Amino acid sequence: MPDDCSSATVDLSGEDILHRRLAAFNRARMTPCLPEDAVVEDLAALSAELAFLEHARLQVANQAARAPCEPANFAAWFERLVADGPGQQDALFPWLADSAPMDAMCWFLTQEVAGEAGFEDLTALVQVRMPQRAKLELARNYWDEMGRGHARGMHGPLLEDLAQALGLKPAIDTTVWESLALANTLAGLASHRRYAFQAIGALGVIELTAPGRAAMVAAGLERLGVAARARHYFALHAVLDIRHAATWLAEVIRPLIEEDSRRACAIAEGALMRLNCGAACFRRYRERLGVGCGGPYDDGDAGPIRSMRT
Ligand SMILES: [Fe+2]
Ligand SMILES: [Fe+2]
Repeated sequence: MPDDCSSATVDLSGEDILHRRLAAFNRARMTPCLPEDAVVEDLAALSAELAFLEHARLQVANQAARAPCEPANFAAWFERLVADGPGQQDALFPWLADSAPMDAMCWFLTQEVAGEAGFEDLTALVQVRMPQRAKLELARNYWDEMGRGHARGMHGPLLEDLAQALGLKPAIDTTVWESLALANTLAGLASHRRYAFQAIGALGVIELTAPGRAAMVAAGLERLGVAARARHYFALHAVLDIRHAATWLAEVIRPLIEEDSRRACAIAEGALMRLNCGAACFRRYRERLGVGCGGPYDDGDAGPIRSMRT
C-alpha cells in the first residue's frame, strides 16, 4: 500500500473541496431530524450542486443525444454500455479477483463503502409521481433491497456486515473525491425532479454493470479467505442485478420512453454521467494501488481482461 490508507487524509484540490462539501450537504439533507436540530440549509452548496450536475450533464450531452429515441433501439444502445461504456472492462477488477492482497482489497472496499449512496433510498426518491408501470417495478426493486421484508436480507446491512467483518472505517475525510463525486452525482440526480429521468438512467446502468464487477470482488474476497456470510453482498449482486437490469429496462426505461421519446436522451445522459463517475473512481483506485503502472502491487500482468458480465 503506498501509504497508510486507514488514517491518511487526501490532498485537497478544488474537486476535493467541492465534493467534501457536497457529501456533507447530502448527509444533512438526507438525515431525518427534528426541526430544532436542523442545520440552516446551505444554499451555496445547493447552487454548487446544480452547477456541478449541469457541468457533468453537458460533458455527456452530445453522446447522449446520439442515443436512439425508439424504445427497442434505445434498449439495445443501453445494453451495449456494459461492453463499451466508460469504465467497463477496467483492469482493476480482474486484479482484485486474482491478485490483490488483503490490505489493498480493504482500501478499495473502504472507498466503495464511503461512496455508497444507498440504492434503496435513491430508488424511493426517484419513484415519486412516476407513471404506474415504472413505479411498480421501482417498488419491486425496492422490496428486494429491503430483503423482501426480512432484516437479514436487507442489502444495506449486508454491506455493513462486510465492512464490520473486515474492520473497515469509511469516512469522508479518507475517501478520494472521485468516490464522493459518484455518490454526490447519484444523490443530486435523485433529489431534483428536473433530473428524474437522468436518475432513472444512472440507477439502471448500475444494475446493468454491477454484476460483472461484483462477481470479481466476490471472487477476490473468497480467494482471501473472507467468510461466505461477509462476502454475501457481492455474491448476491453478481446474480440478482442481472434480473434487476432486465426488468429495469423492460418495465421502467422502455415504457417511459414509449410515453415520451424525449426521455431517451435524459436517461442516456444519466447513464453516461454515472459511468463516467465510475471510470474516474477505477482510474484513481488503480493509480493509488499502483495497478498496471509498475506500482507496489503490480505483478506485471493483471491477467486477461474479462467480460464485466458473468
Ligand atoms: Fe442491492
Ligand atoms: Fe439491484
